[in-house]
Formats: sequence, C-alpha cells, structure tokens
Amino acid sequence: METVVSGIRSTGKLHLGNYYGAVQNFVRMQHDYNCFFFIADYHSLTTHPTPEDLHGNVKQVLVEYLAAGLDPEKATLYIQSEVPEVAELYLYLNMNAYLGELERSTSFKDKVRSQPDNVNAGLLTYPVLMAADILIHKATKVPVGKDQEQHLEMARTFGNRFNRMYQNDYFPEPYAFSFSANLVKIPGLDGKGKMGKSEGEANAVYLSDDVETIRKKVMRAVTDSGPTQENQAKPEVIQNLFDLMKVVSTEDTYQHFDQLYNTCQIRYGDFKKQLAEDIILATSPIRERIEAIANDKTYLQKVSRLGTEKARESASKTIKEVREIIGFRSF
Ligand code: TYM
Repeated sequence: METVVSGIRSTGKLHLGNYYGAVQNFVRMQHDYNCFFFIADYHSLTTHPTPEDLHGNVKQVLVEYLAAGLDPEKATLYIQSEVPEVAELYLYLNMNAYLGELERSTSFKDKVRSQPDNVNAGLLTYPVLMAADILIHKATKVPVGKDQEQHLEMARTFGNRFNRMYQNDYFPEPYAFSFSANLVKIPGLDGKGKMGKSEGEANAVYLSDDVETIRKKVMRAVTDSGPTQENQAKPEVIQNLFDLMKVVSTEDTYQHFDQLYNTCQIRYGDFKKQLAEDIILATSPIRERIEAIANDKTYLQKVSRLGTEKARESASKTIKEVREIIGFRSF
C-alpha cells in the first residue's frame, strides 16, 4: 500500500484553503492508503510563538482534524515535535541542501519580503524540514494545495541527492496529490492572492467561524462595479469569488451566476448571499463537532498517544536504516 504524508503548520484555526487544499483530501485518502497526517509545530517556531500560543494552536489543529472526519484508528495523526526522529533526519538532509537553492525558494523570498526583521535560518531550511517530514515515512503521495508544489520538488531533490550520494534507491520520490484534476488554490476574500496569505481576519473564512461571521465576511468581500459588456473576462476579484463558489456550491448554482454575469444581470449582493449560505452548508458538520471534541481532553490525549506511537514506529525504522547507510555503525 502506498504511503501518504501531509501536515499543516500549527498557526491556529484552519481556513477554507487548508480544508479544500489539504484536509478534504486527507479524509478521502485515509481509507485507501497508509496515511500519516501531522501538525507541523516545529515549523511554526519560525514565527516565535509564546509557549501558550504554541500549545493552544496545536490543540486547535488536532481538534479540527478530528472534526473534519479524520479517523485516528485509520490514519496516523500525530504532532511533529513528538517524533524527534524527524529532527534527526532534518539534520542529515541539511548537509546536502545548498544555500543557493534554499535562497531561491519562493516561500523563502516571500518571507524575506514580509518579515525582514526575522529572516532566521529555520526559514531558510524550512523546505529541508518539510522533506524530512515526508521522507521519514518514505511517502510517495503528499496531499497539498498548489502553494506547496515547489516544496515537493525540493523534497524530491533532497531525497534523490541522498540516494545518489550513498548509491542506493532508499528514498522513493514524493509527489503532490489532489483528487481534483489540478492542485487547489483557494483565493482570499480581500482580492489579494490566496486565502491565508495576508494576516488579518477579513481575508479568510475559518472552519470554526460562526454563521454570522461567515455571512459578514463574505458580504464584505471585495467586488467591482459590475460587468458592462456581455461575456467579458472577469477581473481577478470577481474570478476569485467564482472560484470559491466552484468549490462550495453545486454546479447548477455556479452556472446560474456565471450566466447572470455573462449577460450583465448579476447582482453581487445576491451572489455573495448565495456564496455565504453555501459555505455555511459545506462547513456546518465540521463546525458543529469542533466544540464537543475540544472539550474532550481524555479523547485528545488518547488520540495523541496513539499517533505518536505509530508515527515513531515508522520513523525510527527509517532513522535506523539511514544511520546505517550513512555509516554510523556501532562497535
Ligand atoms: P500550511 O500550513 O501553510 O498549509 C496547510 C495546507 O493547506 C494548503 N493551503 C491551501 N490550499 C489551497 N488554497 C489555499 N489558499 C491554501 N492555503 C493553504 C497548503 O497547500 C497545505 O497543503 N509547509 C506546509 C506544512 C508542512 C507539510 C509538510 C505539508 C510541513 N511539512 C510535509 C506536507 C508535507 C505549510 O506551511 O502548509
């Protein structure tokens, strides 16, 4: 059975981008693959959270994984920092990751621009840690959104380089995966790129948002003054909302509003109202489970223990073999 690995950074609540880009695929894959889904709390240290925030955010993501339908008996659900073998593999892979290629990574360049006062080495080697997450279980499929494609390419580079260096084919090549034809990119509500990219609440709809908040956010989404010519191309802010509708609404609803746009009869108020209601409908079952799970400390403890145990079993096997390959041998 093919092995699947993926994770989400523990920066708090999950938004629709995380859900449609990643978690929805996790839920579908758990039945047919050997799945490892984790909470990337080592990765979140690049932004220096307080200990309280760190722990709270890890808990939030775990709760939302479960609320979204991940089954801890089927998939291995774990917290990255509970599996120190990942950090060990990261150390080994760092020896063959070169400054030039790390500096050219798009996500690194974005961070240099967005947080010039905190360009730490962890940011630079972020793709190496991500490669370690994937290679530690020798995964071949990685369900992620479009924004992670370059990181997957780097994971293949690091794995292949290790193989070449030690003249074997130990690590298989991991590829980004989605059930949809293309990797998903969910746009933000502020008309500025993907959901979750900019800070601030207005850009993203969270799975834990209550229905009134969802309505308010969607009604405030940026639009323009409306189409003036039949069948004109949609400007980005409008295309973004249609993209979102494509994901959450039925095909009929999408076609209905597309038709109205193309005949210059669309009323953005109605369009956004429909979009908000469809987002609410799509996320309600998850939202309703979040609170109950968050209050069940015993269950969370049980899930986390089980996940750690299964993840470490797989990770320690890899580390043992990698140490042997590298030449760390006991007398
Ligand atoms: P992160 O935490 O930024 O995002 C988690 C997942 O959600 C997807 N995603 C989106 N998909 C579509 N549209 C969006 N607007 C959107 N925003 C986020 C991401 O593509 C991702 O799949 N580096 C990773 C976490 C990570 C990881 C890994 C993933 C660490 N190690 C190993 C896979 C395998 C990250 O920061 O994702």
